[in-house]
Amino acid sequence: MTQMTAPTSTSAAPVGVPMLNLKVKILRFDPDKDKKAHWTTYDVEAQPGDRVLDVINHVKWYLEPSLTFRRSCMHGICGSDAMLINGRNRLACKTLVRDVAKNGGTITVEPIRGLKVEKDLLVDMEPFFDSYKAIMPYFINESPAPATERVQSEEQAERMAHSSNCILCACCTTSCPIFWVNGSYLGPAAIVQAHRFIFDTRDEATHQRLGILNQNTGVWRCRTAYNCTEACPRDIPITQLIEEVKRAVMYGQA
Ligand code: SF4
Ligand code: SF4
Ligand code: FES
Repeated sequence: MTQMTAPTSTSAAPVGVPMLNLKVKILRFDPDKDKKAHWTTYDVEAQPGDRVLDVINHVKWYLEPSLTFRRSCMHGICGSDAMLINGRNRLACKTLVRDVAKNGGTITVEPIRGLKVEKDLLVDMEPFFDSYKAIMPYFINESPAPATERVQSEEQAERMAHSSNCILCACCTTSCPIFWVNGSYLGPAAIVQAHRFIFDTRDEATHQRLGILNQNTGVWRCRTAYNCTEACPRDIPITQLIEEVKRAVMYGQA
């Protein structure tokens, strides 16, 4: 384990807000140099209201420029900064320092599990997006377009309310023990995305999607362990949605 000392702060604290001295322990891996991943600890001062992403950005900008990770929007929308923070899948930009560490405490940061680590916290998302593509995540309707819009009732729109909140961050799929042992399982994120279209009354490919989810890579692999639901930063009731899809597969209709 490497220790980088000389604490530096993410920003000047507003008057009256005490800074927290933190140890930020990051699992590093450089495929050009390392045979296996190793922990490196950085001393950082942060405000309690800073996000873990602020802390990681600080490490990259001021202590270790080679640190590699994804992030984009910084506001919990793009889904690109999923990582294991203190052993739990979270979005770094939605996780406040005060919720994961006290003054003098340690924050551990690791890549999400079940996908190949390319470098540090950056994983290969291709298998995840292959599963997403497999459920045909697009609107299919071959009927002639009506003169006005394709109308839905509030109740019909409500059925897709949860699943259309998904930001494809992969927190759920990479916390699923079934996915860890069998990467061919489509995984909860792909099933949530399928749910969004299966329960869309305007879509006409329900039976095709139900057929895909009835295969041995589909919903029957789920053992209802709830890891995925606990990991979702959008509070999507994933296990419940998977159960709804299982019922739709069983009865051949949504
Ligand atoms: S409920 Fe199903 S999909 Fe979610 S973590 Fe458990 S086994 Fe995986
Ligand atoms: S269901 Fe939740 S955890 Fe899974 S990919 Fe979508 S937003 Fe992320
Ligand atoms: S950076 Fe976009 S969700 Fe965190």
